Amino acid sequence: MTADTIPVITIDGPSGTGKGTVTHMLARSLHWHMLDSGAIYRLLAYLAERDAVSSEDVSTLTTLAEQMNAHFRATAPGESEIWVDGVEVSSLIRTETMGNMASQVSKHAKVREALVACQRAYQRAPGLVTDGRDMGTVIFPEANLKLFLTAEPEERARRRLKQLQQQGIHANLDEILTEQHARDARDQARVVAPLKPADDAVIIDTTLLNSQEVFVMVRGIVHERLSV
Ligand code: DC
Repeated sequence: MTADTIPVITIDGPSGTGKGTVTHMLARSLHWHMLDSGAIYRLLAYLAERDAVSSEDVSTLTTLAEQMNAHFRATAPGESEIWVDGVEVSSLIRTETMGNMASQVSKHAKVREALVACQRAYQRAPGLVTDGRDMGTVIFPEANLKLFLTAEPEERARRRLKQLQQQGIHANLDEILTEQHARDARDQARVVAPLKPADDAVIIDTTLLNSQEVFVMVRGIVHERLSV
C-alpha cells in the first residue's frame, strides 16, 4: 500500500463537538491509526511557554515546531500518553490555557507549514482517522471521507464544564463560553487554514446526541462510503 492508497477519514470542527471522542472510537473500531492534531499545536504552546517564547515570535516558534520531538504512546484503548523532549505532558497540555495558547501559536502560516509533514506522516496502513480544524481542507485534502462536527455553543460549553468538574477543576460556564467564543473567532478568522468545513465534508450537528449516538451515526456513514 502506498501512502496515496492508505485510507484517511478526517474529522474536523470546533472544540466540544465530540470529535476527539468519536475519532478515538472510530480508530479503535476500525483498528486504524489516529492523529490528534490539536495535541500537536498544544505541544508547541507548551514548548513556547516553557521557553518563554511569545506567541507572536514566528521565527522562534517555527524553529520549535521544526525541532519538536513529540511522541504519542498508546496506554489503553482510546488513551495515550503524550511525550515531548522526554517529558510526559498529557494532562499539562489539556488545560484551557494551553488550548487558548495553541489557538494563538497556530495562526501563523510558517508555524503551520513546519508541522505539515509530521502530520502527514501519520498516514500509515491500514488507515488513519484524524481530528482537527484543517484536516480535510489542508492536511489531507484527498481524504476518503471528510466529516465536520458542529454543536450549539452553550451545549459545547456545558460539555467542557462537566469535563473540568469531573477532573476536580473549578470552572464557570460564562467564562468557558466567553473563551470558547474568542477561540472560535480566532480559529475561523485566521488567514491560513481557518476552521471551516471542506466543500465535500458531511456536516453532523451533535447538539442533541451523546458520544455513542455520534459514533453509531459516523460508523454507519463510514461503512456506507468506504465499505469497511
Ligand atoms: O482541538 P484542540 O482544542 O486540542 O485544539 C487546540 C487549538 O489548536 C485550536 O484552538 C486551534 C489549533 N488547531 C489548529 O489550528 N489546527 C488543527 N488542525 C488542530 C488544532
